[in-house]
Amino acid sequence: METISVFLLLAVGSTLTSPADASNESLMYPYGTAQGDTKNPKSDDGTSTKIITAVPFSFYGKKYSSLYVNNNGVVSFGVNVSQYTPDPFPLDLGSPFVAPYWGDVDNTRGGDVLWRQTQDSAVLSRCTADINQYFPEMSFTAVWALVATWDRVAYFGSASKKTNTFQAVLTTNNEIAFIILNYADIQWTTGIASGGHPRTGLGGTPAQAGFDSGDKKNFYNIPGSRTPSVLNITQTTNVQFTGRWVFQVDEIVIGDTTEKSKCLE
Ligand SMILES: *[C@@H]1O[C@H](CO)[C@@H](O)[C@H](O)[C@H]1NC(C)=O
Ligand SMILES: *[C@@H]1O[C@H](CO)[C@@H](O)[C@H](O)[C@H]1NC(C)=O
Ligand SMILES: *[C@@H]1O[C@H](CO)[C@@H](O)[C@H](O)[C@H]1NC(C)=O
Repeated sequence: METISVFLLLAVGSTLTSPADASNESLMYPYGTAQGDTKNPKSDDGTSTKIITAVPFSFYGKKYSSLYVNNNGVVSFGVNVSQYTPDPFPLDLGSPFVAPYWGDVDNTRGGDVLWRQTQDSAVLSRCTADINQYFPEMSFTAVWALVATWDRVAYFGSASKKTNTFQAVLTTNNEIAFIILNYADIQWTTGIASGGHPRTGLGGTPAQAGFDSGDKKNFYNIPGSRTPSVLNITQTTNVQFTGRWVFQVDEIVIGDTTEKSKCLE
């Protein structure tokens, strides 16, 4: 149902409506230890171990064979990232990464950071279907995916029960590469060491969502990043599916997202 309605919306170029009631289940790819996910250790500003990818992932014209799923809402290539307050893109440091929601997560206070790389046929079929739907001019067949999920994660210095749930899916056909960012539930934007309030998790320097090439020049920011309105990222999309953002990232050209990046209501 959902697939068909999204396809029709894209086909007629409508930007007015989105599929109503996108449930978490249809938004989020399956995750959890029962799916074979590995949980990151409980550690403020921590990271996964180095993940050697079974298939190289192309990002802005470079092929990477290792990545990290970092607790602070970042999937980084080559090196891990422990920084908790987001600097504006483009970064001076020059580390390439995808930031589904870069902010000061503290999984010792609540929630889990989970990931798996997979060549499971059900996941690959879903990636293939999603990408072909959003990029109908391509014929894409996924051969590999990474599913990284921040499940009900708390913020550093939290004195509330607020948590965030979001996900980054990276997928490639060995050559072309895409990221699918899914925002199920966002309740906080800022840890206290980034100027946030312990009770609200708001204020200060809010989280940043997007990706940075690491070349000090090319990047993409999802609208609202590093502003209070990033709290409403669950209400936005560039693919007519509320809470989801999808990008081709293998080359510098990431497609025309400006046209489609209106907030849906
Ligand atoms: C999605 O899940 C979160 C908790 O993880 C929940 O608070 C939220 O209401 C759910 N949204 C929908 C649309 O089911
Ligand atoms: C993360 O990077 C630091 C600094 O380069 C390094 O010392 C540490 O071993 C890395 N952690 C992992 C899990 O690879
Ligand atoms: C989020 O969206 C709601 C409803 O559109 C709006 O009232 C609120 O001000 C927004 N919050 C932020 C922080 O932008």
